[in-house]
Amino acid sequence: MTDYVFYTASTLDGFLADENDSLDWLLTQPIDEDGPHNIADLMAATGAIVMGSTTYRWVVDHITASGEEWMYKDHPTFVFTHRDLEPVHPSITVVAGSPAEHRAALEKAAGDRAVWVVGGGDLAAQFAEDGMLDELLVSFAPATVGSGRPLFPRAWDFELLETVQNKAFVIARYRVVGPR
Ligand SMILES: NC(=O)c1ccc[n+]([C@@H]2O[C@H](COP(=O)([O-])OP(=O)(O)OC[C@H]3O[C@@H](n4cnc5c(N)ncnc54)[C@H](OP(=O)(O)O)[C@@H]3O)[C@@H](O)[C@H]2O)c1
Repeated sequence: MTDYVFYTASTLDGFLADENDSLDWLLTQPIDEDGPHNIADLMAATGAIVMGSTTYRWVVDHITASGEEWMYKDHPTFVFTHRDLEPVHPSITVVAGSPAEHRAALEKAAGDRAVWVVGGGDLAAQFAEDGMLDELLVSFAPATVGSGRPLFPRAWDFELLETVQNKAFVIARYRVVGPR
């Protein structure tokens, strides 16, 4: 069985980005790149990546646009959008519709590793509603932004499995239980 993991950073008030899609509250925090739940370990455990179009646009505008190659080129990436989007790398597949409609393709792409649901929160919730979300792993940064892009805009239950600190972050790992 393929594991689906929503791994993300969040503000203390439950936002993935502020109203202007800024991640300033996140990128200014100290983090130990070799510490618990670091990105290298995540990438090693990941076989395929899923994201919505706002997240994709953010990566393209902030990283790829500065001349760097698509940062997830070694992982097949599925971008959800209703638009006619021209991918910046051949490893990217543009899809629309429910997560369940793409389950077979996602799990084939992931092989024996996990699917990383990058976000946003509503897309992660769609995966949960389709029974395709096993874990939520949140790195809480010590900042609030007041409003913005929500972490998980549904009434849902989670079971806390683990907490650990990485410098400024409290990382909490939860099992996805179900709607409340
Ligand atoms: N803190 C973190 O670690 C972290 C992690 C991830 C993301 N982020 C940030 O958080 C923000 C998330 O933005 P967001 O809330 O707008 O979420 P998003 O999931 O990145 O983008 C939402 C868009 O995805 C498309 N979409 C979603 N479900 C779909 C479906 N079933 N079929 C087709 N298209 C679908 C729609 O795009 P169309 O309008 O194109 O159809 C929708 O408007 C971004 O700024 C991102 O950079 C932060």
